[in-house]
Amino acid sequence: MSSSDSTTKSAAVVIRQPDDWHVHLRDGEVMAAVLPHTAAQFARAIVMPNLKPPVTTTALAEAYRRRILAALQPGSRFQPLMTAYLTDNTDPADIADGFKRGVWVAAKLYPAGATTNSQAGVTDIARIHSVLAMMEKIGMPILLHGEVTDHSVDIFDRETVFLERILGKLLKDFPGLKVVLEHITTAEAADFVRAHAAQMGATITPHHLMINRSSIFEGGVRPHLYCLPIAKREHHRLALRKAATSGEACFFLGTDTAPHFVHLKEAACGCAGIFNAPTAMQCYAQVFAEENALDRLETFASLNGPRFYGMPANTAQIRLERKAAAVPETVAVGNDSILVFATEAAGQWSVAEVVPA
Ligand code: DOR
Ligand code: ZN
Repeated sequence: MSSSDSTTKSAAVVIRQPDDWHVHLRDGEVMAAVLPHTAAQFARAIVMPNLKPPVTTTALAEAYRRRILAALQPGSRFQPLMTAYLTDNTDPADIADGFKRGVWVAAKLYPAGATTNSQAGVTDIARIHSVLAMMEKIGMPILLHGEVTDHSVDIFDRETVFLERILGKLLKDFPGLKVVLEHITTAEAADFVRAHAAQMGATITPHHLMINRSSIFEGGVRPHLYCLPIAKREHHRLALRKAATSGEACFFLGTDTAPHFVHLKEAACGCAGIFNAPTAMQCYAQVFAEENALDRLETFASLNGPRFYGMPANTAQIRLERKAAAVPETVAVGNDSILVFATEAAGQWSVAEVVPA
């Protein structure tokens, strides 16, 4: 149970430690720089497999998991939960073997060309029917980047068109398949997930709760607010806030923290991704406080995700308090740096472990 006093000026809440059900940790020196920020707030995280080259086999996932564990600070209890990157050539037997051996907990479907490092993704769902049938049989969830790749579809419509053209049929063809629609950005997606909540869930990022599509062009183009799926109109942001703060079991936390170097974002063709790992829980707390729903933050951040994945909720607790606390503006990687999302809003909140008496 969470305790909160969101009605007073000094809002505070104590919740079970949250998990991040969608995170990009990258690899090598970038991973070493960003991982401590995720591990500082979250007990577990679903790790995206879109490395270069992607994590397509159990062997690659086991090796990646070992690199993550080796990069953790001594004493860290953070648990990476690995995922398989689906391609047209994924072997159903390897998918099942990795799931049964606990190497990975889910598989990620990137429509080929939809986003960063998705070139090796799936060109047509028909090509992975045997993989999906296997996942349905063994109870392994599929995590969807839910956008069509047809460039004749407007970028702001690619998620809703995915619901119409792809997702409805997928759920019908595989009624026993557990599905997560990742980083939803539209009212239509929230409604679709609600309507199919027996079979699916959805993650919601901090940034899609805080920015709309106008934010990306506020006074000039703001490459650090560009991600995929791109932020939509204000009414969609409000629908996402309603979904996240509703307490409905199908909506849970997934930051989609996606670090890219500043010089690669501030470029003629800047890459998609928002890095929010250092400010994630502060942002969610700010949103829930604004919605007068701090008492439902624990449900969204710490209970709905484990329930969907069939895992126990964490027993450790954290305290979020509206009290100014320093957050880094950037995270350095050698001579490069990565800009942190929403440091001003997040700086109003402090995050602390609750130490049992
Ligand atoms: O904005 C995004 N960045 N969306 C994605 O789907 C991938 C991610 C990344 O890996 O940078
Ligand atoms: Zn992502």
